[in-house]
Amino acid sequence: MEYNNKKILESNKKLIIKKLFNDVSKKYDLMNDIMSFRLHRVWKRDLIKKVKKEKEKIILDLAGGTGDISISLAGHLKESMIFLYDLSLKMINYGRMNKKIHKDNLFFINGSADQLAFRDNSIDLITLAFGLRNFSNKEKCIKECRRVLKYGKRIYVLEFSPSVNELLAPIYKYYSLKILPFIGEKIANNKEAYKYLTDSINEFPHNQELENIFTKNGFFCYNRIKYFGGIAYLNVFSKV
Ligand SMILES: C[S@@+](CC[C@H](N)C(=O)[O-])C[C@H]1O[C@@H](n2cnc3c(N)ncnc32)[C@H](O)[C@@H]1O
Repeated sequence: MEYNNKKILESNKKLIIKKLFNDVSKKYDLMNDIMSFRLHRVWKRDLIKKVKKEKEKIILDLAGGTGDISISLAGHLKESMIFLYDLSLKMINYGRMNKKIHKDNLFFINGSADQLAFRDNSIDLITLAFGLRNFSNKEKCIKECRRVLKYGKRIYVLEFSPSVNELLAPIYKYYSLKILPFIGEKIANNKEAYKYLTDSINEFPHNQELENIFTKNGFFCYNRIKYFGGIAYLNVFSKV
């Protein structure tokens, strides 16, 4: 299957993305550790630490995948309800089967971010880690997030970014263009999926553009944290 972004029409992109994550689900966690040198764990831990402090009651972990964030939040925030929401059933199921989940405050929903199965103003906090980049219609999903969030409440967006520091940029470019797809082929047996990863990062909006998209859609940029020379950022927006 061809994952090259330019060739993907928006209408087909969602199906292709779903298949891509279904296909890589069993190797997803391992690949994350290898490709990011386990840095994704550090960034997620930081996000979890910040979210925990908010002590919100109803939390949506959008594009929650195999559950790194929701499982941890459900363990820490026993009084809260955590909803892991993802397009790929295989990603959800892999996390459910292979991770320690004994949480009766953790719920799984297989669905798409462009049509959230929640009422208006019903959610206290949204986490969105490495998900926005994959949405076929980002603005539509951002609008949905705003619709379901309560006023004044926050969305934590953790994402790889093309806004990488100049010194790091050439090494990062070489790594993502040459090494990542090679590792993807050897370990996940899916070179295309990991080529898609690089393309989707390069095509992702730079920070100011991302902020503009959110502010245009009724959010205020509350905070931004840069990780590892700008390879990833945590952007926190609140609904106004
Ligand atoms: C890179 S993974 C991130 C998973 C998890 N949040 C993490 O940080 O490990 C991206 C996830 O987004 C999900 N996804 C892609 N498009 C989606 C959509 N339209 N609605 C909901 N989830 C989607 C994929 O199925 C996949 O599990």
